[in-house]
Amino acid sequence: MNSYPENSLVVQDLKVSFQETDGLLQVLDNVCFSLQKNEFACLIGPSGSGKSTLLRALAGLIPYESGSIEFPEVHGRKPRTGLVFQKANLMPWRTLEENIALPLQLAHTPQAEINKKVKEMVELTGLQGFEKSWPHELSGGMAQRVAIARSLVQDPDILFLDEPFGSLDELTRERMSEELLRIWNEKRKTILMVTHSIPEAVFLADRVLVLAGFPQGIVLDLPIDLPRPRDDELRYTPQFAQAAATLHEHLKL
Ligand SMILES: Nc1ncnc2c1ncn2[C@@H]1O[C@H](COP(=O)(O)OP(=O)(O)OP(=O)(O)O)[C@@H](O)[C@H]1O
Ligand SMILES: [Mg+2]
Repeated sequence: MNSYPENSLVVQDLKVSFQETDGLLQVLDNVCFSLQKNEFACLIGPSGSGKSTLLRALAGLIPYESGSIEFPEVHGRKPRTGLVFQKANLMPWRTLEENIALPLQLAHTPQAEINKKVKEMVELTGLQGFEKSWPHELSGGMAQRVAIARSLVQDPDILFLDEPFGSLDELTRERMSEELLRIWNEKRKTILMVTHSIPEAVFLADRVLVLAGFPQGIVLDLPIDLPRPRDDELRYTPQFAQAAATLHEHLKL
C-alpha cells in the first residue's frame, strides 16, 4: 500500500488569483503536494476553498500566478491528462457512443480505431446495450459513466475528477465508487478526485488531501492504509472510522 515509487505530478507553492472588477481575488496560495504514479488520491475541503480551481489549473484550463506544476515524463513523453466535471456535460444531439467518440474525432483518429476504443470504453463502464441512447434517456449515474468513458477514451495517464458523483443519490454513489475502483484496478491511472464525502474519500483513496481556504493550502495529507481490494464491509471497521474521524477534525478547522 502506498508504495508507488515514481512521481506523477509535483505541485509547489501554487498560487492562483482571479481578476475581479473590484480587485484581485486570491483563491489558492502555498499549495504543495505530489502524486505518485498510479496513486488514487482524494481532495476534500470546504466549499469555496478552491478545489475546482486547483483541478482546472492542474488540467491547464486556467493560468496560475506563481509556483510550479510539473508532470514528469511517462515513457519519454509528456503525460496526458483528463478532467471530468461535476456535471456530465454530454452533447444532447449526440448518442452515447458519439459522445464517447468526440475527443477521438477531434484528434482526427481513424474511424476503425474510434470504433474499437469506444466499444472498449462502453464495456469498461458497463454501458453495453445503450450505445445508441440519447443523453436525455440516461439516468444521472449512466450520464456520469459516459463522462468518465469520454475522458478515459484518450487513455490519460492522470485523471482529474471534480465531484463526479456529486449529483447522485447515496446508493448510486457507492455503486459508482466501486465501479471506479474496478476501472482504476484494470487501467491503473493516477487519479485525483474531489469529493465532499469523507466516507467516499476513505473508501477510494490511497491518500486524502485536505485543502483549506486561502491562504492555507493543503493542511493534511493523510495516507489511507486500508487493504485492497476494498469492499463494502470495510466501511464498518474501526480503521475506516478512525480515518474518517481524523478528516472530520481537520475539516472543522
Ligand atoms: N473564473 C472565476 N472567476 C472569478 N472567481 C472565481 C472563478 N472560479 C472560481 N472563483 C472563485 O474562487 C473561489 C473558489 O472556487 P472553487 O469553485 O474553486 O471552490 P470549490 O472548493 O471547488 O467549491 P465547491 O466545493 O463549492 O465546489 C470562490 O470564491 C469562487 O467564487
Ligand atoms: Mg468545486
